[in-house]
Amino acid sequence: MAVVSEPVRAPVIIDLSAPQLRARLREALAIYVAAMDYPRGTEHHRAPMWAEHMSRPGWRAVGAVLTSPGVSADLEAAPLVAITYGYRGAPHQWWHQQVHSGMRRAGWSEADAQQTLSNYFELTELHVHPAAQGNGLGEQLARRLLEPRTERIALLSTPEVAGENNRAWRLYRRLGFADVVRGFTFAGDNRPFAILGADLPLAAGSEPAG
Ligand SMILES: CC(C)(COP(=O)(O)OP(=O)(O)OC[C@H]1O[C@@H](n2cnc3c(N)ncnc32)[C@H](O)[C@@H]1OP(=O)(O)O)[C@@H](O)C(=O)NCCC(=O)NCCS
Repeated sequence: MAVVSEPVRAPVIIDLSAPQLRARLREALAIYVAAMDYPRGTEHHRAPMWAEHMSRPGWRAVGAVLTSPGVSADLEAAPLVAITYGYRGAPHQWWHQQVHSGMRRAGWSEADAQQTLSNYFELTELHVHPAAQGNGLGEQLARRLLEPRTERIALLSTPEVAGENNRAWRLYRRLGFADVVRGFTFAGDNRPFAILGADLPLAAGSEPAG
């Protein structure tokens, strides 16, 4: 029998309470900066925003930590490799107002925009450390985050990418996210984004081939 001297570390998905994420905020923001390839220092601007989001109604977070198989895992101490969170959308929120005006500019009627935005969960952040990407972890995290939600739909924004050719786009399409607004620009940011939405609960997934 082969003896493995270095145990392979397997990610374990865990719910994160607000105090648990607060205690891991630097670690979580480091994953965000590495995953998005943002310049160092971005995490300092983002920290107060992520902390404020934790107090919003319906906030929920899920992470993935690395543990060693066969070793009784101390999940609190295990290193984080992926993070996702979101909260219930509400009309006073900046993101909600931006999306509402984007929908109107894109031709949505006021009634349809209001109906869509009346009961949704905003999937705010989803990031897997580059070293852990490409193994289905992002999908597991998104499903775990959205699984208990009672809102009618989930909404998110993601940067536009030529041909929708990146992991985020493939993941969102696989999960059933459809176009709400394309080529949308948030106030103060020139980059085009897509606003995507999926009915909740998400449709069940299929096992990856291979
Ligand atoms: C987008 C992101 C969260 C996706 O997470 P991920 O773990 O890399 O991706 P997925 O869960 O979709 O899985 C990736 C691949 O593994 C494959 N896969 C799924 N389950 C698998 C399994 N059990 N074993 C092996 N591979 C598997 C998928 O088919 C997928 O292939 P594809 O990307 O070629 O389509 C992650 O890549 C990331 O953080 N990217 C940078 C930041 C970012 O773009 N965030 C979103 C901004 S809105």
